[in-house]
Amino acid sequence: MARELEIVRPDDWHLHLRDGAILKAVLPFTSKTFGRAIIMPNLSPPITSVKDALMYKDRISAACPDNHSFKPLMTIYLTESTDLMDIADGFSQNYISAVKLYPAGATTNSSHGINDFKKLYKVFEKMEEIGCPLCVHGEVVDPQVDIFDREHVFIDKILDPIMRTFPNLKVVLEHITTQEAVSYVKTSKENIAATITTHHLVINRNFILAAGIKPHYYCLPVAKREKHRIALLKAAASGSSSFFLGTDSAPHFDTHKESACGCAGCFTAPNTMSILAELFEQEGSLEKLEYFTSINGANFYNLPLNSERIKLIKETDPIEFPNKVFTGEGVITVFDPGFPVSWSVKSI
Ligand code: DOR
Ligand code: ZN
Repeated sequence: MARELEIVRPDDWHLHLRDGAILKAVLPFTSKTFGRAIIMPNLSPPITSVKDALMYKDRISAACPDNHSFKPLMTIYLTESTDLMDIADGFSQNYISAVKLYPAGATTNSSHGINDFKKLYKVFEKMEEIGCPLCVHGEVVDPQVDIFDREHVFIDKILDPIMRTFPNLKVVLEHITTQEAVSYVKTSKENIAATITTHHLVINRNFILAAGIKPHYYCLPVAKREKHRIALLKAAASGSSSFFLGTDSAPHFDTHKESACGCAGCFTAPNTMSILAELFEQEGSLEKLEYFTSINGANFYNLPLNSERIKLIKETDPIEFPNKVFTGEGVITVFDPGFPVSWSVKSI
């Protein structure tokens, strides 16, 4: 059985870093191990212009430990009044790597997002022309639609019509949670890909709701039935170029999670690679881990692979991770996969 695995340094294609004290406290967990990350723009207020994105990038760079070589890949938050020339200029100058679409009200700080997708058709046309990826939070917000159905209804009612109108638009369907999303991406052309989070490969909805409510497993899209988790795991471990890691690591203070109306998000930055190695090993697919974490995403974004490598080492005993991170302004709980994890990560 493999005890060591050397892979190209991974990237995180969907990451929340927040700002201020949280940014400073959480960034080193990512920048230590990952070469690059697509940075989500849902700050409050959101990052809606290239100028805002560049200022945010400077704050991220300032918060990065000097001995980490990490490159934040910036995004802007699409609103119904986004200037398409700002996207075109920012993308052509490599200031932004993608644009993020939040349906209004779908998740944390999404109130400035989109109500009427038709209003974006000129923007989509431009993005299709220039090859700028659209990262999509794929859930409808219609209160009539059951929360467990919101992703597959979004694919049928919103995404598919967009793709029929803009067949070459580059789309990343973010943090997929259903077997319907896996099949949609698998049967689409290669301009549609999906990110999968670490936590959705570990938990199903019982983790959140059975034997007491567990707010630290609550995220959006919410975890679904076990058959969906298995479909996600098979897709990730297949090595298929359409699926890659986007952790959606989303830190919130415990006071905001452990609440009568708790925030959505799992904080997986500290232990993601160790958990993934454990899962891929259990699947008998350790040799596919590098495709999922280090190759497929870079290829989709037309970026070179990272030149550095990391080593994953299977220790004889399970590793201890901190279960809390202290930011000075509040405490953040680290995602607990619920099983022992013995793979440690070393930069080489
Ligand atoms: O669980 C989530 N948390 N899902 C999202 O889409 C947003 C994220 C956050 O920003 O907290
Ligand atoms: Zn997210």
